[in-house]
Amino acid sequence: MDDLLPSFLKSDIAVFACPVYFDNVQAIMKNFIDRLSPVLLPHFEEDGKGEYRHAKRYQRFPKIVVISNSGLPSQKNFEVESLFFRRLARTFHTELISEIYRGEGEIFRGKDNIMLKPLLGKYKKHLKNAGKEIVGSHKLSDKIIEDLEKPILPQSLYIKFGNDEWDRLLEEDRVD
Ligand SMILES: Cc1cc2nc3c(=O)[nH]c(=O)nc-3n(C[C@H](O)[C@H](O)[C@H](O)COP(=O)(O)O)c2cc1C
Repeated sequence: MDDLLPSFLKSDIAVFACPVYFDNVQAIMKNFIDRLSPVLLPHFEEDGKGEYRHAKRYQRFPKIVVISNSGLPSQKNFEVESLFFRRLARTFHTELISEIYRGEGEIFRGKDNIMLKPLLGKYKKHLKNAGKEIVGSHKLSDKIIEDLEKPILPQSLYIKFGNDEWDRLLEEDRVD
């Protein structure tokens, strides 16, 4: 953390990237966030909207970008995480400038599958465009968000393929 904190504080943007675990950030990500507490002072202050938080220790704090994926389909899986990062940005006196949430995450295990390859290629192009937008304007346009959040496969197909794959892996004794 001694190494990470200085580079974190001098960054313009910090990208928090992790998968959804039971509707929330992974424990290792939460640990990292908890250890960011020295960037705040112990003193309480009003936030201008009738709520309280700790005062900031430094003038500069990176803007926040979140990237996350979930195994299940639907953007609903990111509701808790999205609220968590909004609250975190408030706590840290900064802005949550972009959120990239990808459901149907198991698809990426099939990146060499002949049928999935073009679909994933298209998604990667949207991601590259998103990266350019974030660096250029510190936000994402509605069009990019729409492109990024479109199901890669229709949900019913994803569930069918996913369950067939789990059956196959269970048969091979590769998952419990
Ligand atoms: C403990 C655990 C909890 C999970 N919880 C959720 C969940 O609540 N919703 C969801 O859509 N996917 C959930 N997943 C699926 C993961 O988000 C998804 O498989 C992700 O790609 C796993 O990344 P990893 O292989 O780096 O752990 C969970 C996976 C694990 C291992």
